[in-house]
Amino acid sequence: MSALVLRNWEVTVLDSLETRVHGSTPKPVLPRGVRFLHADVRDKSAWERALEGVQIVFHQAAYQDYMNDYSTFFHSNVVGTALLFEVIRQHHLPIRKVIVASSQAVYGEGQYQCTTHGLVLPSARSTERMQRGEWEVRCPQCAEFVQPLLLREEYSNPFNQYALSKFSQELAALRLGRAIGVPTVALRYSITQGPRQSLLNQYSGILRIFLRRIKARQPIIIYEDGLQTRDFVHIKDVVEANLKVLETENANYEAYNVGSGQRTTVLDYADLLARKLKTELNVRMAGEFRVGDNRHSVSSIDKIRTLGWGPRRSLDCIIDDFLTWINDLGELPSDIPDAEAHMRAGGIVQTTNATNPA
Ligand SMILES: NC(=O)c1ccc[n+]([C@@H]2O[C@H](COP(=O)([O-])OP(=O)(O)OC[C@H]3O[C@@H](n4cnc5c(N)ncnc54)[C@H](O)[C@@H]3O)[C@@H](O)[C@H]2O)c1
Repeated sequence: MSALVLRNWEVTVLDSLETRVHGSTPKPVLPRGVRFLHADVRDKSAWERALEGVQIVFHQAAYQDYMNDYSTFFHSNVVGTALLFEVIRQHHLPIRKVIVASSQAVYGEGQYQCTTHGLVLPSARSTERMQRGEWEVRCPQCAEFVQPLLLREEYSNPFNQYALSKFSQELAALRLGRAIGVPTVALRYSITQGPRQSLLNQYSGILRIFLRRIKARQPIIIYEDGLQTRDFVHIKDVVEANLKVLETENANYEAYNVGSGQRTTVLDYADLLARKLKTELNVRMAGEFRVGDNRHSVSSIDKIRTLGWGPRRSLDCIIDDFLTWINDLGELPSDIPDAEAHMRAGGIVQTTNATNPA
């Protein structure tokens, strides 16, 4: 948003200030001159008010994380997006472009290479296998171990409620946009990090969760064996990707990955953070896992590179910028809910029965 204000654009923000993200007494900090609507994307009249005089929509609002109220994902992420296009069409609004935040989650367990069967798209790992401590992915046809590939845009395979809703959201956006002639782009972000992300939401967001445990002198909880791989991108790179597709007509009606293209294991990530905080790495790796978690998620960024975008900030820079921001803030908020206990009670976090997980 600051990037838009710096360009002297008039900006309106529509946000329902969800408690899980903003806490029970939200205090949105907005640049001067930004119009704020405290409203919900599931409310058609909210869109009607928000879109008055607007030319460009960056649709970032979403219901996320490991929650079991499945329908909320679809109401917020899919119905909310359908309403956006319904309002544009009904009122013949002169919207020049819609850019929707999608997610790497649309790939589900991802894309793998089997030595016998070539490219395979495995199903989510079963809870039974995870309970036996079998973490790595096998070929759905011959059950041999398979090698993870960088995720390419053409093979989506969503499983969980969040991923299904994000995939449905981007399909709705790209196709309704095309139907009414409003150029629309979906950006599938990898794990996005940086200053000003919510510190209260402890259901997801590896950096804020690990940092909070280190600061509280508690061991970092590592699920599985810590060798699952992830892909991290700086918030400023994501902002630049949004601006790039905004300016590029070739991008219209397409979905693009926005990530680093680099594999990082969760364990290496924890180690890097501990080193930056000059503290001994202290982890609890007790064969715990999250039901529905994917094993390897690293995006290919070949497609968006053709538009002239590439990530400019390293993993070091991502963590440094975040830590600088935290230092400037002083303390971490004290009223963070214990998401771990909640996920455990809900059966989302489980422990393997295996004595020697593989
Ligand atoms: N952060 C990541 O790592 C990541 C990765 C992939 C995709 N994304 C996508 O990027 C977008 C932004 O993610 P984020 O991490 O900043 O999320 P966030 O949870 O920090 O912020 C989402 C915002 O949406 C608002 N919101 C939620 N439901 C709403 C509703 N029904 N009506 C109006 N506002 C509502 C929340 O109050 C919050 O301010 C989301 O669409 C998310 O799916 C994020």
